[in-house]
Amino acid sequence: MWKAHYDKINKEKHPPANTLSQTLNIISNKGSSKEFKAIDLGCGNGVDTFALLEKGFDVLAIDKDPNSFQHLQKGISSNLPERLNFQNSSFESLGELPSADLVNASFSLPFCHPHQFERLWLNIISCINSEGFFCGHFFGPKDSWSSNSDMTFHNLEAVKKLFEGFELLYFEETSKNGKTLSGKEKFWHVFHVVAKKYHSTK
Ligand SMILES: C[S@@+](CC[C@H](N)C(=O)[O-])C[C@H]1O[C@@H](n2cnc3c(N)ncnc32)[C@H](O)[C@@H]1O
Repeated sequence: MWKAHYDKINKEKHPPANTLSQTLNIISNKGSSKEFKAIDLGCGNGVDTFALLEKGFDVLAIDKDPNSFQHLQKGISSNLPERLNFQNSSFESLGELPSADLVNASFSLPFCHPHQFERLWLNIISCINSEGFFCGHFFGPKDSWSSNSDMTFHNLEAVKKLFEGFELLYFEETSKNGKTLSGKEKFWHVFHVVAKKYHSTK
């Protein structure tokens, strides 16, 4: 299903998601020398995973598509670094996530089945360390794909509610005609989010 998408990304050498780039800038500006751990949910062909590895993160990349692993292997010229682990799982079947300083989910969480989304989201927010980050996207009800009952959509209020324990550092709602990466016309209704988990003493 995602082959055309991956091929297009490979050809055009897409940059990482804007939400991830912003988060990496924020973290770099803090100038910490700590070893950071990231999870890339729905990593696809690894464009964001590679950006995280370049910044020195340990990365757990997760995707339900097994081809994703081949894309990761291709994208790294030498052996896969020890700092990268790939897990071939669907969001619906994910067990508890390991603790992370950053969870990145670029254009991927809406593909989780709505019946499983709440469990997935609780899993995500619990694994993020105190003062850790989430960056990614959610699709709104005006999106062309919103009639797909296997996907999860959130209105503005619902997206904001997901981030009750977080400070929103960047939040943008966009709604416009456009194309998918494989060239199909669609209406995009997207929430772009960068958020930082509030400090906790737990
Ligand atoms: C639109 S692509 C985004 C890929 C990548 N994050 C990017 O921004 O280029 C969505 C990705 O989510 C993965 N995906 C879709 N449904 C999934 C699910 N239920 N569980 C895990 N991964 C899923 C797909 O295999 C695909 O790689």
